[in-house]
Amino acid sequence: MEKNELKHLAIIMDGNGRWAQKQGKKRSYGHKAGVGALERIALHAVDIGVQCLSVYAFSTDNFKRSKEEVDYLMKLFVDSFHSTNNKFDNRGIKVVFSGVTDNLPDDVVESMKTIIEKTKDNQNGVLNICLNYGGQEEIIRASERYHKDLNSGKIKMEEMNRDKFYEYMDNNLPPIDLMIRTGGERRLSNFMLYQMMYAEIYFIDTYFPDFNEKELDDIIDNYYDVDRRFGGINEKERNS
Ligand code: FPP
Repeated sequence: MEKNELKHLAIIMDGNGRWAQKQGKKRSYGHKAGVGALERIALHAVDIGVQCLSVYAFSTDNFKRSKEEVDYLMKLFVDSFHSTNNKFDNRGIKVVFSGVTDNLPDDVVESMKTIIEKTKDNQNGVLNICLNYGGQEEIIRASERYHKDLNSGKIKMEEMNRDKFYEYMDNNLPPIDLMIRTGGERRLSNFMLYQMMYAEIYFIDTYFPDFNEKELDDIIDNYYDVDRRFGGINEKERNS
């Protein structure tokens, strides 16, 4: 059997807060360590030929957290998008965002624009950062864009199908092949629901700051050999 393709890897980066609290530190310490882990994982993903990496940095529902934590995360995004700019750019990674910028602080939006602009022509891989993001909300946005095109005659109803619909999402990225959630919880938390249709899903206990290249490689090795049937049957079953 041929190895499965891995075009699009997605990660729910969970467990930063607990990682810090376990060491008697503030949750913010864990978020900062999470940025380091993301940098290592994103650079490694490019090295091993993953075309697209999507990560869940901040959900629309994360605004329910304490003001102190939300403010810290926003500041961390601004600092990171400036400092990671060169690391990602040097490796030819194009950075894009999914989600909405309404109700994000101006300096966050500015830093997002900077990294998008700086990396827009890069071709070695795409890092899609889901920020102020919800999967159901993205599907609603895609439907709104589709209806606009339908009304203006840019698309006909019979031209729509589930592949075409990807073009209306926040970014036209391929379906997710493999999704990893760190931190021990077993749920999807409104993350890229449309793109996750036939994703292989791995829930692991490791807190995100401890997630490393070796553990990712082990999961990917395992994924390569999974029998992905996409709702069909495999050759062996077909012939029996
Ligand atoms: C979930 O862990 C993590 C977050 C809400 C933030 C994730 C953000 C980062 C890793 C930084 C990303 C940085 C960039 C540059 C995009 P949690 O806080 O819910 O942890 P817990 O489940 O232990 O409480």
